[in-house]
Amino acid sequence: MKYYVRTYGCQMNVADSDEMGRHLQARGLIPTEDPEEASVLLVNTCTVRQHAEDRAFSEVGRLKKWKARQSGRKLVVTGCAAERTKAYLENRFPHIDLVIGAKAIEDFGRAVEGLLERRETDEDLEYAIPMSGDRVSAFVTIMRGCNYSCTYCIVPFVRGRESYHPMEHILSEVRDRVAEGAREITLLGQTVNSYHRDGARGRGTDFADLLENAGKVDGVERLRFMSPHPHYMTDRVIDAIAAVPEACEAVHLPVQSGSDAMLKKMLRNYTREEYLALAGKMRKAMPGMTISTDVILGFPGETVEDFRQTLSLIREAQFDWGFIFKYSAREGTPAAAWESYPEGLIEERHQECMAVFEEVSRLKRAALLGTEQEVLIEEENTGRTRTNYKVSVEGNVATGEIVRVRITNSDRATLTAVLADRQKQTEGLEA
Ligand code: SAH
Ligand code: SF4
Ligand code: F3S
Repeated sequence: MKYYVRTYGCQMNVADSDEMGRHLQARGLIPTEDPEEASVLLVNTCTVRQHAEDRAFSEVGRLKKWKARQSGRKLVVTGCAAERTKAYLENRFPHIDLVIGAKAIEDFGRAVEGLLERRETDEDLEYAIPMSGDRVSAFVTIMRGCNYSCTYCIVPFVRGRESYHPMEHILSEVRDRVAEGAREITLLGQTVNSYHRDGARGRGTDFADLLENAGKVDGVERLRFMSPHPHYMTDRVIDAIAAVPEACEAVHLPVQSGSDAMLKKMLRNYTREEYLALAGKMRKAMPGMTISTDVILGFPGETVEDFRQTLSLIREAQFDWGFIFKYSAREGTPAAAWESYPEGLIEERHQECMAVFEEVSRLKRAALLGTEQEVLIEEENTGRTRTNYKVSVEGNVATGEIVRVRITNSDRATLTAVLADRQKQTEGLEA
């Protein structure tokens, strides 16, 4: 029997999909890339913005036909949107066999057991040795939930309060992923660097300790993490990123807005100046590092002046790149009760903001032209630099290999490069 997983949303959801997949594999199911081969189909949903939820639900609607084409097929809907709208989903789409919300992910094994026992087909379980993930870069969840209450955000509602996995449990998961072939590990959490809240409350290990220990696991070549929160980006954490050789010089640090008035209204717990000071500190500790970010446009009350502050922050912080999100009101969050902007105005701001990001990004990329970089090949000739730039490498390289390259073109977001040694060879031949 085969299963297919469709994942929406963030890395956290990707990691959850992998975890659910491992449960299914332990029961003898085999993953497939083709839904038509699947007897069990998982749709792991996201609800962070309305658009994300709509996309997932229209897929669930379309799957009615998939289900009808073969008897005994099971449709399972999981994740954040499932958590938020369980009752609605069950009523609106009777062809769903099981709804499991994001808070119940850790009970997935048990929940799905009942479902598979209620098998209606005679099809025998095709027992197989659980397939190992073939991912060069793997995710490891270190905490669940979020104790923040950013006024626009639904995540704390659907994922609950923070809970941290014990260090030993995390390290053993890192070892498992490495044994399956991973060379890069990304530690995941909504405020990932709050891990054990810097040893407060008498707990011994903090995020810095975790980085150090995860880096020491045999076979871990690269360590990344998502998403840190500026409030927990302490000197100790910055020092650890700089000191742990495996920790990559790339930090995705969502800022959301460059305006203090907006940051305050969002309850982000830092100011523009504090954020910029942090960016400066990180760059000082790791020259040449990448800093990327998320911004929200059209948050209720965002004036033209607030918006300009976001644009000027993008220039000042010199972001390598950024993701721009149009504000989406989420039912139940405080901001949903505040008056928001017409779509047209947000779209205008979106265009302008994209242009500013692109202007800064282009300069950053131009500086990389001709430099030598270390690239970990993740799939067919493409990989990433330690600083997390995507690079397409010319020449014979194998997935999982770490190669030295020289950047030959940086016009686009995906850089192109040749093998550094080969370049030297050719130069030698020409001489
Ligand atoms: N925990 C992470 C963010 C998780 S959500 C952090 O605090 O950094 C990922 C991104 O989605 C956020 O950084 C934010 O920019 C965006 N986002 C969250 N809620 C949103 C909403 N209601 N409308 C638009 N964008 C939103
Ligand atoms: Fe949402 Fe804020 Fe928590 Fe991030 S820190 S998940 S934006 S509430
Ligand atoms: Fe992630 Fe979406 Fe849930 S962004 S935490 S999958 S709401």
